[in-house]
Amino acid sequence: MRWLLLLLGIAAAQAAQTNPAKAPAGRFKDTECIACHGPDSPEVQGWRLSKHGVLVRISSPGRAPGCVDCHGAEAHRSANPEAMREVCGKCHSPRYLDTLAANGQRMVAVGEMKQREALALLTQARRRFPADRLQAMEDHYRHLQTHLRNIRMGVGHQSPDHQWWHGHPALDGDLLRIKGAWDDLMRAAIKP
Ligand code: HEC
Ligand code: HEC
Ligand code: HEC
Repeated sequence: MRWLLLLLGIAAAQAAQTNPAKAPAGRFKDTECIACHGPDSPEVQGWRLSKHGVLVRISSPGRAPGCVDCHGAEAHRSANPEAMREVCGKCHSPRYLDTLAANGQRMVAVGEMKQREALALLTQARRRFPADRLQAMEDHYRHLQTHLRNIRMGVGHQSPDHQWWHGHPALDGDLLRIKGAWDDLMRAAIKP
């Protein structure tokens, strides 16, 4: 019996360390944000591959921002744009930040345009076909939303790899697959 309790104890300790369902209250350090969100999560990877993330690893402390510098120690707060301008402004010029913000907004807007196109097709398909035939389309659409989040996060974290490689090309692929799945459904529907 004791071994069972021990196992349960270990499982509980592990659950507390890895990402729980709800964001916990409290103040955290960068290492804790990273451990709990997961070192391989898109948010941590995106930051790690950004110039800031690289500099935090290889340069003198404080030269570039970590999680807490931008999000605050209380965490889980979306980086609010006003506060963020102030944070970035400690190290970058306002003009540079304006350009970045404009580019970022365009990048996200293009992603949202692709999402609308995909959703329009999916909505038509949902009206015409029973749910059990829409599995492929629904799956591709879920992936598309993940990739749109990567773009948003890549923009937020100034991470070219995440806004580009894990963002737009992946999202283009999802959109193509959604169109392909729609074509398959239509072809099957008109077959005698
Ligand atoms: C013990 C676990 C844990 C720690 C430590 C932690 N987080 Fe979180 N965080 C979560 C969970 C769980 C969520 C909610 C996830 C969700 O809603 O998908 C969350 C949500 C967030 C969100 C909002 C995500 C979204 O998609 O809306 C941000 C931003 C965030 N955390 C940043 C941080 C930062 C920065 C730190 C460190 C200062 C940190 N977190 C520390 C578990 C943690
Ligand atoms: C240079 C500032 C900066 C740093 C450093 C930074 N973030 Fe972010 N983060 C942002 C901005 C800006 C966004 C996009 C706006 C938003 O959604 O909050 C963002 C987005 C996020 C999101 C997604 C929120 C959502 O709405 O989906 C999570 C989660 C997150 N960051 C966690 C982290 C973690 C964990 C770290 C450290 C490993 C970190 N961030 C480092 C600025 C930063
Ligand atoms: C603590 C100082 C610090 C803060 C705060 C900071 N940065 Fe940086 N950032 C740096 C340093 C240092 C570099 C590397 C500059 C270089 O290329 O030599 C850098 C690089 C960058 C780059 C890459 C430039 C390139 O040539 O590839 C971008 C983009 C960037 N920062 C945007 C931001 C944004 C947006 C914010 C706020 C969300 C921010 N930074 C906050 C210090 C900071």
